[in-house]
Order: sequence, then structure tokens, then C-alpha cells
Amino acid sequence: MSIDSPHEVGAAPGVPSNEELAAMSAEEAMIVGAEIEGVHIVHRRERYPIAGTMAEKRAERTIAGIFLLGFLAAVGFIVVFCGAVPFEWHLPGEGNQDFQYFTPLLGALLGLALACVGIGVVLWAKWLMPEEEVVQERHDGPSPESEQIMSSATLISGFNDLGVARRSMLKTTIGLAGGALALTPLIALVGAMIKKPNEGAGQSLFHTLWAANVAVVDANGTRVSPDDMLPGSIQTVFPGVPGGVQAGDSPTLLIRLRPGQTIKARKGQAGFQWGDFVAFSKICTHAGCPASLYEQQTGRLLCPCHQSQFNVLEDAKPIFGPATRSLPKLPLGIAVVDGRQYFIAKGDFPEAIGPAFWERP
Ligand code: FES
Repeated sequence: MSIDSPHEVGAAPGVPSNEELAAMSAEEAMIVGAEIEGVHIVHRRERYPIAGTMAEKRAERTIAGIFLLGFLAAVGFIVVFCGAVPFEWHLPGEGNQDFQYFTPLLGALLGLALACVGIGVVLWAKWLMPEEEVVQERHDGPSPESEQIMSSATLISGFNDLGVARRSMLKTTIGLAGGALALTPLIALVGAMIKKPNEGAGQSLFHTLWAANVAVVDANGTRVSPDDMLPGSIQTVFPGVPGGVQAGDSPTLLIRLRPGQTIKARKGQAGFQWGDFVAFSKICTHAGCPASLYEQQTGRLLCPCHQSQFNVLEDAKPIFGPATRSLPKLPLGIAVVDGRQYFIAKGDFPEAIGPAFWERP
């Protein structure tokens, strides 16, 4: 294998011509290219100089088994996600939580699939690819075309070292595991179409724990009275039922308007206000952050996540930022207990709270 033949224009001295390179095997060209690049292959030998030995087949079968396990785990993830395991989310305190390990199971299956593919690839390199030791020098500047050809040869040689052509079992199993794994990000979209998120008991996306005559309480569970709040103040309140303070969709902002401030109510919701008190869902209609920065002089409510602003005086209509829907309003009422007035809800929010979704009417 000579490397002293004529060079192409611009090629470095000692670089073989394109014709000479074309006549070499990928491995030979890779070695020549490595030497010219300052990458010295100190030691290189096949792990199994005689192809097809029992030891090689055993290593291949072990790796194929790992890929197969990864494939099964990825398929398991898809099947569980699409509803093979009975699971229905319920509001706290309502109904059975069917299968409490649903989410951990999904995580374990996806983790197992990723781990199997990763471990399989590492073992393939360690057990089946040629063993080599190299020392590399660094260089600056662009490479001439001949060196680019040699770099390609390096890649091709590396691919040949994988032995994909003669290891059909590994090729099939890594294809299965990788293919199934690649499907898992899509299944979150497709799976939700197979199993609608609002199906099942109570259509949970459309209802919260608020209901007629449910007491309005603070974070400590204490009933809230109109006398507790000064004009212009706000308070986060919850439904006074078991699990009401913990329920993620129930936080509500109770606002006492300043003297002279009025609200232009939405159609059919004129009676939702009680005196100068009004209550809106605290869950931002953009992406669900708590919108609770209230500017009492202007009646503007700011969501800190992406700066959406809602004008409380226009019934919490969005006036700035990415939110496009008004905050749902809670119908407020009053109950008298031991001679003192306390807030109650007159019903649930009339529409789904939080971010939009495609089935929202
Ligand atoms: S979540 Fe409120 S603006 Fe994005």
C-alpha cells in the first residue's frame, strides 16, 4: 500500500491520490487517513478473528435479547398509555383512583426501553467491535478533499466494524427497539385521541369541587366573610369540602373592588357578583399558572408566567399577553352562620377552567 504516488493539487505531502484511495478497502483507507491526520493506531485487533464462533454468537444473542427487552418495554409503554390499564383521574375524595401506579409504570417502562437500547449499544461496541487503542494529534484549518474522503472512509470502516451486514439478529432487534422507542413521544398525541381526556366519571376537565352551597374557605380551611377583606384587597379561596384546598383546579381569587369600581358582566353572569365582591378562577387560561398579581387601582390581574393581563373590570377579559380567554367566574352567594355572613358558591364555574383544549365547547 503506497502513499508516495502523485497528489492532487492542494493535498498535503504523503497523501495518496484519489485513485489509490479508491483501490483500498475502507479499513486500509481509514488507517492511512488516520496516520495522515496524526491519529496513530497503536493497537487494533478483531475481538473474534474467526467469525461465527460460539462465543461470538453468545455475545450477539445476549445483546439481541437486551434490544428485544427494550422493544417489549417500549411497546408496553404504548399499550399502557393507550388504556390497557384501567386508570381514570378523579377529583380528590371522589371515586377510586383505579390504578395508583399508572404513572410510575409508564416511567418504568420508558426508562427500561431507553436503558436497554443504551446498554445494548454499549455492549455491541465493547463485545463485538474491534479492540483498538489510538493516539490523536489535533490540527487547525480546513481539510483538503482527499482528507474528507479519508474521513468518510473512517466512518464507513467504523460502520463495517459494527458487522451489521452479517449480524441480522442484532440489526432486527435494534431496529425494533429503536423504532418502538421513537414512537413513544408521538403516543402522547395519538393516545389522547384514542382515549379522550374528558371521558369517564364526571367529565373531570369540565368540573371542579365548587358546587351550590359549598363554603368559601381560605388555605387554612376557615370560612371567609365579607368583613374579612378591605376594599381593593384579594384573597385566594378554596371550596370548603374534603380535598378542596389541595385540588389543583379549584383555587379561586376573591376580589373586593374599590369604591366606584364596577364590573361589566358577561352575558348571563350578572348575578355572579355579590356586592362589590367577585371571584375568578386563579388558573391562567394560557397555560395554567396562578394569575394573582393584582393592581387594585386599575383592576388588572397579571399572570407572572408569560405576562398575560386580565382586566377584572371587564370581567377578567385578557387585554395583554398570550391568554385568549377570560378567566371563568364563580357565582358567589352568602350564608349566615351564627349571625355572621360567610361566602358560599352558588354553583361550579360555568365553563372549564384553565388552558384551552380542543374539546372545549
Ligand atoms: S400561563 Fe399565564 S400567561 Fe402563560
